[in-house]
Amino acid sequence: MKTCGVPCHIAIIMDGNGRWAKKRLLPRSAGHRAGMNRMVALADHAFDCGVRYCTLFALSTENLSRPQEELNSLFSLFREYFSANAERLKKKGIALRVIGDRSLLPADICELIAAGEALTADGGRGVLTLAVGYGGRQDILSAVNEAIRRGQPVTAENFSSLLWTNGLPDPDLLIRTGRELRISNFLLWQAAYSELYFTDTLFPDFSDTELDRAIEAYERRDRRFGKV
Ligand code: FPP
Repeated sequence: MKTCGVPCHIAIIMDGNGRWAKKRLLPRSAGHRAGMNRMVALADHAFDCGVRYCTLFALSTENLSRPQEELNSLFSLFREYFSANAERLKKKGIALRVIGDRSLLPADICELIAAGEALTADGGRGVLTLAVGYGGRQDILSAVNEAIRRGQPVTAENFSSLLWTNGLPDPDLLIRTGRELRISNFLLWQAAYSELYFTDTLFPDFSDTELDRAIEAYERRDRRFGKV
């Protein structure tokens, strides 16, 4: 049987941290911490499986309207994550990249992001992209405005190069944890032909084995890209 092989690019909507915490009578911040710990191990596992690009939705533009207390706990986790992981990713040969509107983020986090990206820039084994302050519509609008500023005709190819994901291939497999069956403004242009995988599992419980299952399901898909 024809199989697709291991997806080159996996994107994940990491949903369900809040419900994971609620089930345990813990604050939402505890769910986000558990989510961060899972995210670190899961990304390592994805690259070990042969995935070359892994893109994770950590904070949407819409999430920025959450209560300040929750945002502060997420911002603290981002600070901790970039401080603890940039060097580790460099050693593993993984380039770290962040997409989104940085003007929406605290200045010190922008500095940590820039330092992490610079430190890991020559990583040749894979690219780990975190979407922070990211929205698919905002990504498209910023590309459209840049195209207008340049005054050039827009094609599918040069439009892709104006998106925040410039240089990344489109995702092959888009996974959403946490039971909801929607895309929620993630990679709207880029996911046009992504294979979708939805699971009820809340993100902190989304194990390496379940990622293996998602990859196996992907390998059985028949990707036709609109052709016969
Ligand atoms: C959605 O779950 C998840 C988020 C808004 C945050 C995702 C963040 C992490 C996985 C950890 C931190 C990431 C980094 C990069 C350090 P939700 O809170 O909406 O869950 P719910 O739908 O159950 O309420």
